[in-house]
Amino acid sequence: MARIPLTDSAEVDAAATEAAAILELLTGGWVAQTLRAMASLNVADHVAAGAATAEEVAERENADPRTMYRLMRAVSSLGLLSHQGARRFALTTRGHMLRSDVPGSLRALVLIQNEHAHWQSWEHFPDAVRAGRTQVHKALGADLFEYFAKPENSAEAALFARAMGDLSGLVTHGVVANVDTAGVASAVDVGGADGDLILGLMAQDPGLHGQVLELPHAVDGALREARKRGLADRFTATAGDFFTTVPAADLYLLKMIMHDWDDDQCTTILRNCREAVNEGGHALVVEMVIGELGRPDFATRVDMNMLNVMHGMEREMAEYDALFAASGWRRVRDFPVGGGYSVLELVPS
Ligand SMILES: C[S@@+](CC[C@H](N)C(=O)[O-])C[C@H]1O[C@@H](n2cnc3c(N)ncnc32)[C@H](O)[C@@H]1O
Repeated sequence: MARIPLTDSAEVDAAATEAAAILELLTGGWVAQTLRAMASLNVADHVAAGAATAEEVAERENADPRTMYRLMRAVSSLGLLSHQGARRFALTTRGHMLRSDVPGSLRALVLIQNEHAHWQSWEHFPDAVRAGRTQVHKALGADLFEYFAKPENSAEAALFARAMGDLSGLVTHGVVANVDTAGVASAVDVGGADGDLILGLMAQDPGLHGQVLELPHAVDGALREARKRGLADRFTATAGDFFTTVPAADLYLLKMIMHDWDDDQCTTILRNCREAVNEGGHALVVEMVIGELGRPDFATRVDMNMLNVMHGMEREMAEYDALFAASGWRRVRDFPVGGGYSVLELVPS
């Protein structure tokens, strides 16, 4: 019996290509969890000293050797491990980024994005789109930062702070290289987490006194980091609420703060900085800025994550300028600093 072609072969090829593209996209969550397992079972750390077999890594992690092999094979296909012969695996340059405690590590970021808080919230994501706001409360019984502030979630909160430090690593160098703090005596890193950015600026300017304003649970981490870098004598970490008030300073750093909040909340934070800023002072906002519609744009993915877990969003430049105008600031300069982030420099308007 003759087969009836469903469609012509060019159409079949085109459909197969499109289907492959969709499959690639939809399995992104599986890939993220595969990286999480790699980070969680410390695979990169175990292989860092030299190539190892899955059995050797499994023994060190008290894991099943066969599933460890399947994991390492998958990670190898993602380009984070290379293989020597059939059974030995080594780290690729990309794989080194999953090591712990190395400059440029993204391990904490990989873990936190797939930990309980973020992952549970994705379950409700279609509802977030429908409702026009995050459903994080449904997922966690609390907002994200309230959740992290609970003592029982302190390990996840510490991981989040480290992950913010990982992200900072992508941009701090670019900010420090492009920002001259001569004449700036005091700077506040508003919601500064471990203080990576302010401590980076202090390291290059011995005259600069720095402060992190953070939620109470995050203050100790910032103090520890300052001591670790030998900068504690010029550094304070203050427990507070940037929606209520911010300490006076010559310079405010607001890195990845605006994207957490809605327009009214951002205006409140910016107004509090504007009211407290010393004469002649300024502010630096560090954020991803969404580019041209329809172009591949990583910031639009981050925007979905913001809708997932926060009340905020990634914004276009015009949206940022509207926030600045509404809170007494004016953008005078902007420049890219790596990792897809830009610095927006503000002066009082
Ligand atoms: C997305 S993180 C950015 C951290 C840091 N600026 C960075 O770029 O690495 C937002 C930070 O804001 C802090 N935060 C949230 N609400 C706050 C509030 N009301 N007052 C002060 N800090 C707050 C959080 O604890 C968190 O560390």
